Amino acid sequence: MKHKQIKPFPDNFLWGASTSAYQVEGAWNEDGKGPSVIDMRDNYPAGTTDFKVASDHYHRYKEDIALFAEMGLKAYRFSIAWTRIYPNGTGERNEKGIEFYHHLINELMKYNIEPIVTMYHFDLPYALQQQGGWSNRATIDAFEQYAKTLFECFGDRVKYWLTINEQNMMILHGDAIGTVDPNLENPKKALYQQNHHMFVAQAKAMILCHKMLPNAKIGPAPNIVSIYPASSKPEDILAADNYAAIRNWLYLDAAVYGRYHPIAWSYLEEKGYEPIIEDGDMEILASAKPDFIAFNYYTSQTVAASNGDESDIGHTGDQHITVGEPGVYKGVANPNLKKNEFGWEIDPVGFRTTCREIYSRYNLPLLVTENGLGAFDKLEDGDVVNDFYRIDFLRDHIKQLQLAITDGVEIFGYCPWSAIDLISTHQGCSKRYGFIYVNRTEDDLKDLRRIRKQSFYWYKEVIASNGSKL
Ligand code: BG6
Repeated sequence: MKHKQIKPFPDNFLWGASTSAYQVEGAWNEDGKGPSVIDMRDNYPAGTTDFKVASDHYHRYKEDIALFAEMGLKAYRFSIAWTRIYPNGTGERNEKGIEFYHHLINELMKYNIEPIVTMYHFDLPYALQQQGGWSNRATIDAFEQYAKTLFECFGDRVKYWLTINEQNMMILHGDAIGTVDPNLENPKKALYQQNHHMFVAQAKAMILCHKMLPNAKIGPAPNIVSIYPASSKPEDILAADNYAAIRNWLYLDAAVYGRYHPIAWSYLEEKGYEPIIEDGDMEILASAKPDFIAFNYYTSQTVAASNGDESDIGHTGDQHITVGEPGVYKGVANPNLKKNEFGWEIDPVGFRTTCREIYSRYNLPLLVTENGLGAFDKLEDGDVVNDFYRIDFLRDHIKQLQLAITDGVEIFGYCPWSAIDLISTHQGCSKRYGFIYVNRTEDDLKDLRRIRKQSFYWYKEVIASNGSKL
C-alpha cells in the first residue's frame, strides 16, 4: 500500500536500545553470582572470546547509562541474570545480585529511562541444567519463584516485563546458541518437551505478574520474521506456511491463545516430537494473557518445497544457522536481498510485513526488542567510528516501521540491538552491534573505554525529533 500521508510516530514512543546480561555485564563469578549454562560452555568458535568480562557493564553501568541518557534513550531493554538472583537457580537468594539491579534500575530512573526487563535471556542457571534443565518440570517452579522475586524486588519501578527471550531460537537453533545439551538421546523430542515446560513457566509468570503488579505489562519476546515462499508455486507456498507455523505461530499462539497451533502440532505428531502435556497445563496456558507482543527481527527467511531428503537443509545466510527439514520445507537464499558481512540477508520491507502479520493475527500492541546490524567496526584515529552502514540499516528499518504504523499496526517502542557493543551469541566481540564502541578485541581487553560511534549521534537526532529526522 502506498500511503498519501505517512503517520508520525506516536507521542511517548519508546525509543530504546537493548542488551542482555551475559553478553554485556561480565563479572561472571562476582558478588555471589552462580554459573549459567553460558559460563560453563566450552565450545567457543576458534578465535572468539568467552563471556567472562564481556563489556564490563557490571562495573561501568553508571558511565554506560549516562551515555544512554546523552543519546536520549527513552527506554533500555536489558536482562536480569537469573544466577545473580538465585546462584543455584532456586533456593538461597543472593542479596548482592538483587542490589546490583536495584542500583541499575535506580540509575535509569534518575534519567527517566524506562526499564524493560527480560527475565531470562539464554542464561539458564547451570545448577538447574545439571538436574535436567528445562527437561525437568522442577525448572518451571524455579522460574516461577524467580519471577516472584523479580516482581517483589523491582515491580515498584519496572512496568514492562519480557518473559523469555527467543524461546523459538533456543528450540530451533539451540546448538548455535549453546543451550542444547549435547548428551540428549533424542534431542528434538527432548527439546519440544523443554519447549512445553517453557510455555507453562511463561504462562505462570504472566499470571503472577498480573496478580502481583496490576499496573505492569508483560509479554513474550520470540524472534518473529516473515517467511517467504521461494516462488508462486503452490508447493513452495505450502512449505512457507509449514515453516511459519513451526517457527513463528507455535510460540505466539501458545502465549496469546494458550493453544498449540494446529499445523505445528500435526508436525510434532508426524515427527514423533509431541510433548507430554500434564493435566492442567493447557488450562494454565489458556488463563495467561500477555499485554503486548515483543519480538526480535533481523531478517526474513525464504523456503521452498521439500525434496524429502537431507538436501532440504540449507544455509540461508549465516553459516552457523541451518534452515530446512526433510518433508517439511527447504531453506533457500533470497536472490532479491543483499547480505551483511556475516551473510545475514537484509530485508527492511520484511520488517513492515512482519509487523503487519503479527498484529493482524493477535491484535496486541507490538514492541520491537531487537533489530540491528552486526559489523566489523573500525576504530579510527581520534576515536572515530564511521559506522554509516549501520545508520543506513537502521534508517531503512525505521522507515518501514513508520509505514507499518501508517498501515494501522500499533507499535509502542523500538529497541535496536544493541545499546553498546557486546559479545555476539556465537561470533565473538568483533561482530559489533552497538551505538557505543567498547575498546577491546577477542583476546585483549585493552582499556574497555567507551567511544561514541557516528550512529550514536545519528540515533540521538532520531530520538530528539521523534523519528521525523532520519
Ligand atoms: C538474538 C539474540 O538472537 O540475536 C541476541 O537475542 C543476539 O542475544 C542477537 O546477540 C544477534 O545475534 P548474534 O548471533 O549476531 O549475536
